[in-house]
Amino acid sequence: MEPTERIWMDGKLVDWEKANVHILTHGLHYGGGVFEGIRLYKTSKGRAIFRLKDHMIRFFDSAKVIELKIPFSLDELCKATKEVVKANRSKVDYIRPIAYYGSGAVGLNPIKLPTKVAIACIFMGAYLGDEQQKYGAKLVTSSWEKPSNRAAAVNAKICGNYVNSVLARLEAVHKGADEALMLDSGGNVAEGTGENIFMVRNGEISTPGMASGILGGITRDSVMKIAPELGYEITERDITRSELYVADEVFLTGTAAEVLPVRSIDDRSIGAGKPGPITMELAKEFTSITMGKRKKFLHWLDYVD
Ligand SMILES: Cc1ncc(COP(=O)(O)O)c(C=O)c1O
Repeated sequence: MEPTERIWMDGKLVDWEKANVHILTHGLHYGGGVFEGIRLYKTSKGRAIFRLKDHMIRFFDSAKVIELKIPFSLDELCKATKEVVKANRSKVDYIRPIAYYGSGAVGLNPIKLPTKVAIACIFMGAYLGDEQQKYGAKLVTSSWEKPSNRAAAVNAKICGNYVNSVLARLEAVHKGADEALMLDSGGNVAEGTGENIFMVRNGEISTPGMASGILGGITRDSVMKIAPELGYEITERDITRSELYVADEVFLTGTAAEVLPVRSIDDRSIGAGKPGPITMELAKEFTSITMGKRKKFLHWLDYVD
């Protein structure tokens, strides 16, 4: 990652190298924090942030789950996001807001700790790589299960939740795969480590429901709203691992990954082992929307410049 110029921290823009935290930060020791990932796209009318308000709503919702009081309003953080993007002239395409319990005591109880908030932007490019974006990603099923809704608040983007994803991702990398497929506590398909998952079989598109302990992805929601425009219906239902093996197409969705084809799972080729036609159609439409080429979805774009 290349350094960018300025980072918004607790109400002020600071230089990249000065955006540091205290070593006794609760969020660092216990994962007491929440974060977002937001994409920034180039359109013919300048740079636009994709679904900024929806991401900020989820940010506040995640904070509520861990009783983290954010000392800024939603509007203020939307404004701050635009401000930090403008303050970075370098090439940036990804925004990372984070809020966390700061320092003041060592121990799990965060109640008296201050809330710290920051918004950074960086250049990310294709999250799993350009080759994977073009030809499809290789997945392996993780031996780590996705915590159930009883084990963790998995529908919130809480920093500590992501150690599970880190374990799964490490395992996948060691096995030579691009990404891990995570199963839920009942053995059904949940999601990737940072993406939701969809399968296509006989023209039908399905995706696991929220009970599988998935994050309610904003890209997932976007795809579910775009698909009917293209004449497809998407069903939320339980999906088994072996159903994915025999799917015609599988794809992942996420802010970082966007709409990403899957070419193999556990060494079984998915369909023809290359991106399928429905995946490509949805990915293309998603790109057109992010570039401001679809009137119906222009409200998802917040122009910056
Ligand atoms: C665990 C997990 N699932 C799914 C997603 C996809 O969500 P979104 O499309 O909102 O980025 C993410 C990324 O935020 C994630 O961390």
